[in-house]
Amino acid sequence: MRTRAALDAATVESLLAAAVAAPSIHNTQPWRFRLDPDSQALEVHSMPQRTLPLADPTHRAQYLSVGAAIFNLRLAAVHLGRRAEVRLLPDPHQPGLLAAVRLTSPLGTHDEPPDPGLHEAIARRHTSRLPFTGRPVPEPIVAEMAAAAHAAAARLHIPDIAGARRLLRLTAAAEGRNHTHPARMAETLAWITAPGAATPYGIPLTALGPPDAGRRIPMRDFTGPLPVVRRPALWFERHVQLALLWTPHDRRDDWLRAGQALQYVLLTATAHGLRTSLLHQAMEWPDLRAAMAPPHYKRCHPHMLIRFGYGPDGTGTPRGPGRSAPAAA
Ligand SMILES: Cc1cc2nc3c(=O)[nH]c(=O)nc-3n(C[C@H](O)[C@H](O)[C@H](O)COP(=O)(O)O)c2cc1C
Repeated sequence: MRTRAALDAATVESLLAAAVAAPSIHNTQPWRFRLDPDSQALEVHSMPQRTLPLADPTHRAQYLSVGAAIFNLRLAAVHLGRRAEVRLLPDPHQPGLLAAVRLTSPLGTHDEPPDPGLHEAIARRHTSRLPFTGRPVPEPIVAEMAAAAHAAAARLHIPDIAGARRLLRLTAAAEGRNHTHPARMAETLAWITAPGAATPYGIPLTALGPPDAGRRIPMRDFTGPLPVVRRPALWFERHVQLALLWTPHDRRDDWLRAGQALQYVLLTATAHGLRTSLLHQAMEWPDLRAAMAPPHYKRCHPHMLIRFGYGPDGTGTPRGPGRSAPAAA
C-alpha cells in the first residue's frame, strides 16, 4: 500500500473539533474517530454503547447524527484548504465503519472557494428550544436551505399552513405515545444531565425548553412526569416555520446522506442568523413516520422535522473528544 503524507496533529485536532460539534440525537454523540495509519484516512465508526434501542432500533437517527458530523469534517477540510474524499460504508465486512474521510490534494483555483460563513456557523449553531419571534424568514433564505438539502442528495419540503398543522398533529401524536410509554420516557430521561454533571454526553437540564402554552408546537418533553421541574409554559410563535427533510430511498447510506443534508441545512440557516430546533418524535414510530410524507409524494422517506426562525440562541451542550485508540494524531 502506498504510504501517504501523515496528517499533522493540529490538522487532526481541528477536523475532530468540527466533527464533534455536530448535533446528535439526545447528544449521544454516537461516533468514534480513528486515524488509519496506512491510508491516513479518518475513519468514522459508530458507537454501539451510545444508541437508543427503543426510540431508534434501526439506528437511523444514529446514522443521521454521524452524517452531520461527516459534513462538519468535510467543511473543516475545505477550511484548511484541502479536498476531502468521503467514502460512505467503505467496508462491507465492518458494518460499524460508517465512513472514511481522506484529505487529498490542496484546493485548486478551479475549486469552489470555501464558504467561511458555513464553517463559522459550526460553533455558533445550537438547538434552540425557546419560542421564536414569528418574523417570517425571507423566501431566498428558505430556497437556499432547500438547495443545501438537494446538494447533499436529500430534499426539503416546506409545508403550507395546512401541511404544517398536519405535521404538528402527527408529531403531537408521537409525543402523546411517548408519554404513555414509561420505558421510552426512561430511555430519554437517561440522557438528561443535572447541572455540573461530569459527563460530556447527554443534554444538560439547562438546554431544555418550555412547553408551548398555546399547545400548537409539541416540543419534546425530555423529562416526563418525574420529579424534575420542566420550565413553565411559554407562548410560542403562532405561525411556526417548518421544513421536512426526506430522501427518495431509505438505506443506510441514504441515512448518512440525510445527516449531511441536515447539517448543511442547519448551518445555512445559522449563517443567515436563524435559530433551529428539531422535532424528531414522529420519526420514532414507523406508522407516524410514514404518515409524515406529504400526500401524493412517491418514494418519500421522512427523516426530520426542522423548526426554524428568528429568536433567542440555544444553550451550548458538552462534547466528548470523539477519538479512539490508537490516538488519532
Ligand atoms: C437525529 C436527531 C434527532 C433529534 N431529535 C430532537 C428532538 O426530537 N427534540 C429536540 O429538542 N432536539 C432533538 N435533537 C437535537 C439534539 O438534542 C441536539 O443536537 C443535541 O442535544 C446537541 O445539542 P446542540 O444541537 O445544541 O449542539 C435531535 C438531533 C438529532 C441529530
